[in-house]
Amino acid sequence: MKDIPKVELHLHLEGGAPPEFIRGLALEKKVDLSGIFTDDGGYAYRDFLHFLEVYEAATSVLTGPEEFARLTTALLEESASHGVVYTEAFLSPDFCGGADMIAWREYLAAMREAAEAAERDLGITMRGVITCVRHFGPDQAKAVATCAADTAGDFIVGFGMGGDESAHTPADFAWSFDCAREAGLAITTHAGEWGGAKSVRDSIEALGPVRIGHGVQSIDDPALCDLLVERDITLEVCPGSNVFLGVYKSLKDHPIQRLRDRGVKVTVSTDDPPFFRTTMTREYEGLAHTFGYDEETFAELNQTALDAAFCDEPTRDKIRKRLTQ
Ligand code: ADE
Ligand code: ZN
Repeated sequence: MKDIPKVELHLHLEGGAPPEFIRGLALEKKVDLSGIFTDDGGYAYRDFLHFLEVYEAATSVLTGPEEFARLTTALLEESASHGVVYTEAFLSPDFCGGADMIAWREYLAAMREAAEAAERDLGITMRGVITCVRHFGPDQAKAVATCAADTAGDFIVGFGMGGDESAHTPADFAWSFDCAREAGLAITTHAGEWGGAKSVRDSIEALGPVRIGHGVQSIDDPALCDLLVERDITLEVCPGSNVFLGVYKSLKDHPIQRLRDRGVKVTVSTDDPPFFRTTMTREYEGLAHTFGYDEETFAELNQTALDAAFCDEPTRDKIRKRLTQ
């Protein structure tokens, strides 16, 4: 499983921070983060909202472009070791200097440099999708969208939104998504992870995404599944994340295969791998074991992911060759 060349579309940069990396920074900066770690070196949280709190606490010790560059390198080394050849990382100007444009440009330059070095040294290609955080509110999202529009190009290729799906409504963020789209960025948004099918439908109507982060609860609404097919919207499915956070009791109960059976385009990602004790290899092993996915199924999933990637066509062609090597 490890050696299968993989395309990953849904990976939060800060969510990929190894606990020991964050623990080291906390010690250095004399910040007491002891409560966010388990005894065996993982991240500790009770439920989804507490996960978001722990995530933000962990992220709070990451300061400065150099630390984000180191994190980018660590993330890409880990991904490459699991066969990932192309990854879209969610980058958050909120955590990189508070969505201030001048600071953001400096953070981005450092992360890009780290990504280019990883491409040269490890053969993994990264592109950035800038994400605003839903529970930080629509005004903060406007500042993030402005950073996104300013830095859109061949490296920053998309715009999205994570965070607490129950905060505000998708329509409250329409300005930000329109701003990003007008700058040429492709659109995704988290929806239908903890929110139900209605959350996905409202997000489609208000924000016009071509991909949905998670979207798994669409399975409860057959007409919505039809709409996803009709609009050719691809789901960034993160099975391990959903099971670890308790959206589904076990992988057996996860709707990934039922969505595929309905003709919905799905892809496989890790979301925040150390938070959910997962890797791309583990995701594939789970799917092979639970649903009998074989090499052909994984090739199909990776092709779907590559088709839905936000990169330019020369990059897509280059990655296509890597997938068939
Ligand atoms: N930010 C990081 N991981 C997330 C998730 N699984 N859902 C919403 N926001 C997130
Ligand atoms: Zn996510």
